[in-house]
Amino acid sequence: MKRVLALLTILGINFVHSATIKGGIEVPTYLEPCQRNSPEFNKCIRNALQLLMGKLSKTGIPELELETLDPLKIAELIMTYDGGDIAGKVTLLDTYTRGFSAVKIIDVRSKTDDPNFFGMEIDFYVPRVVTNGIYKMDGRIAKFPINGKGIYNITATEVTGTWNLIGSPVTKDGEKFMRIDRLSVRPEVGNLKVHASNLINDNPELSQVALAFVNRFWKVLYQEMLPYAEESFDKILRQLVNKVFLKIPYDQLFPPAQTPSVV
Ligand SMILES: *[C@@H]1O[C@H](CO)[C@@H](O)[C@H](O)[C@H]1NC(C)=O
Repeated sequence: MKRVLALLTILGINFVHSATIKGGIEVPTYLEPCQRNSPEFNKCIRNALQLLMGKLSKTGIPELELETLDPLKIAELIMTYDGGDIAGKVTLLDTYTRGFSAVKIIDVRSKTDDPNFFGMEIDFYVPRVVTNGIYKMDGRIAKFPINGKGIYNITATEVTGTWNLIGSPVTKDGEKFMRIDRLSVRPEVGNLKVHASNLINDNPELSQVALAFVNRFWKVLYQEMLPYAEESFDKILRQLVNKVFLKIPYDQLFPPAQTPSVV
């Protein structure tokens, strides 16, 4: 606890508030908890998120078992595609994604006035996201049968999107939490560049051709992949945000406004 606070102080963040989670563990939160149903709530969340993403994405929050977001490490991700130009099974291993510490939180909209529903939309912009790791694919991209295994990296620039969170209340040990049930996002990408070795097993020339095809037609391929990728984004991101939402009781995370505003 002391170590974390010292670190946060070094980072120049003045954490005067904390939340208490199970076992009496105190978690430093942001400057001032944002009061749900207050007129300032969305602005407060935007500022708090900007602060947290910018400063804490490099260190994580150990009390919440929240690891770093920059880089974001994903040990294994398996996706099955059955689209027009892409079909097959892709396994990604030891994926590192870098760039989220530079995220700009553009706008926040929320619905918190129904005790049985939580809704939040967060518009974001990231100038550059680089993902690298190991891949294995059995399937095809357009007319290329891809039975490859190798290393890859993807650089996406000018990434914009909206994280759309939907949640419902759950009670654990007599405390009320707001569990996020769905986190959907369909990022738009300004430019995308893919490097992948050995797309077509042991055929460097054809691998080169397939990769050139991917980079030439990335827009079409990305659009086709997006519905499938969306499921993966949901799985990964929902698990991340629930480390906060299922650990910090709702009334501590977003305390109700003293005088609820009349909508
Ligand atoms: C991606 O991989 C290629 C080939 O190994 C390498 O030349 C390039 O620098 C890598 N790009 C990034 C952004 O890591």
